[in-house]
Amino acid sequence: VRIALIGGTGALGRALALGWAPRHEVLIGSREEARAEAAARRCSRLLEERGLKGDVGHGLNEAVARASDLLVLSVPHTVDEAFLRSLDAAIRPRAICISPVAPFSRNSCYLPLQGPSFAERLSRSMPRARVVSALQGFPAQRFISEGRVECDIPIASDDEEALDEVASLIAELPSLRPLRAGPLIASRLLEGLVPLLLNIMAYSGIRSPALKVV
Ligand SMILES: NC(=O)c1ccc[n+]([C@@H]2O[C@H](COP(=O)([O-])OP(=O)(O)OC[C@H]3O[C@@H](n4cnc5c(N)ncnc54)[C@H](OP(=O)(O)O)[C@@H]3O)[C@@H](O)[C@H]2O)c1
Repeated sequence: VRIALIGGTGALGRALALGWAPRHEVLIGSREEARAEAAARRCSRLLEERGLKGDVGHGLNEAVARASDLLVLSVPHTVDEAFLRSLDAAIRPRAICISPVAPFSRNSCYLPLQGPSFAERLSRSMPRARVVSALQGFPAQRFISEGRVECDIPIASDDEEALDEVASLIAELPSLRPLRAGPLIASRLLEGLVPLLLNIMAYSGIRSPALKVV
């Protein structure tokens, strides 16, 4: 699979590039070519240091989206509508788009934002994509440092075939287990995991908490 990591210059994009590059063609996207190139070089160097195969490519977000079968929208929840519309115009029809985004607020504690989930909003802004909600609670920085994290990743989508494909890709990441959690509307629960984990971090003092269902 050729995978585009939109906004892949952040921690999540770099973690996924490291995890998938040994078996897939991975492209890091950015709004700026130089940032994409620097992140891709950093990942390729880390792969080499760890004795893993794989080369990480790069480009502008729209260019990597156009060239790929699957995208991860690794950007903040404040991303604007025009950005999402331009990606939708660039992608291949029915391309899979993974939404790892989790909007939350912080007041007396972390809380999810009210209303539809980001993934539901994304499926309206990118009608040509098949949206799969996944990876919200994935501790990306820990995965980069340790090369693996034992945790469960709930996934939700209205498209069965896309769910299968994303589940297989997640299962390839060392020690991650994908768990089906229902149709796309269930993304409201998946996105709520992030403020829950942040509260656990703040109130229980666990440094990089992750989900494990037993
Ligand atoms: N970090 C984690 O552990 C983790 C785990 C699971 C899920 N997530 C979710 O995944 C997403 C990315 O997380 P991250 O920590 O990697 O985030 P990040 O570093 O804050 O953002 C990722 C990239 O998004 C791009 N970006 C920033 N503002 C943008 C805008 N207005 N429009 C378009 N692109 C923009 C930037 O890339 P350029 O400047 O290079 O374009 C930035 O490097 C977030 O929604 C987060 O909630 C994060």
